[in-house]
Amino acid sequence: MSSPIHAFAPFAAALEAPLRAAFPDRKVVCWRDEAAFAAGIGEVEYLFTLGPPRGHWSGASRLRLIQCLGAGVDDVLPAADLREDVVVANNRGMAAEPMSEFALTLVLALVKRLPFFVAAQQEREWRRALPGRVAGTTLGILGMGAIGQALAEKAAALGFRVVATQRTPKPHPIVDQVFASTATHEALAQSDVVVLLLPLTDETAMSFGAAEFAAMKADATLVNLARGGIVDESALLDALVSEQIAGAIFDVFAQEPLPGDSPLWSAPNFWVTPHAAGGFPDLLEVAITRFADNVARVERGEPAHNQIDRARGY
Ligand code: GLV
Repeated sequence: MSSPIHAFAPFAAALEAPLRAAFPDRKVVCWRDEAAFAAGIGEVEYLFTLGPPRGHWSGASRLRLIQCLGAGVDDVLPAADLREDVVVANNRGMAAEPMSEFALTLVLALVKRLPFFVAAQQEREWRRALPGRVAGTTLGILGMGAIGQALAEKAAALGFRVVATQRTPKPHPIVDQVFASTATHEALAQSDVVVLLLPLTDETAMSFGAAEFAAMKADATLVNLARGGIVDESALLDALVSEQIAGAIFDVFAQEPLPGDSPLWSAPNFWVTPHAAGGFPDLLEVAITRFADNVARVERGEPAHNQIDRARGY
């Protein structure tokens, strides 16, 4: 009898049909509440997950693979109670194209001042402003993983000058300058629009704060599609209220959904999208196909695709 397949996600019900289709000969168990997860974790060998509850891994004696649904693994790692031999894998690259399209949409919207025009319409005002232009605009990409590289290519093709940061900087044919993460301020000083695409790790947590806003150009804008925990949200609010930066669009927040009473909802020149950037119509099917491949690999004793370096955290 083949091992069962387990899944945990807030939208567990939506996982049942595609998981059953991918694993027709196995038992499939989908959970969404912590109590069921905690009670059943001892049976789990292969787990497909988004946002699993922390603190239960010490009971996971049969666990072989944790497959994170998306690119981020910050909802699992670091995990001191997780056995070292458990493979943690993500779906790095899966959303690189759709997410870089989303990023480019927001960058162009900011350059062309679309949010300002939409805000004016909401007040029934004919408020004119000069749109920017791509030629002469520098896009700063913090984090040159799969999504950052896809965005760099699209933006450069449109005529943006692109600068970037990378933990270990490597020259990139279409990026004007790649800075080490330790030289982020130099990249910020050159950028008209900054896009955050970093993983959330111990190193990047709260790494974008007052000093980084101060390093940005006065008329620059910021897009965060990475993780809320990377940005100091009170420094963000100060930068918006004091007009230290010209505006920002955030898809991710320290607490999601963004609480109804968060001052960010009504911060000046600030626009919110609901952690939507990485989505695309058949995301679950694609992610589950990759999971099935990794289950087969682990069962054959082969390395999983997109295995996470647990020490590095991504
Ligand atoms: C989404 O946020 C992901 O981590 O892919």
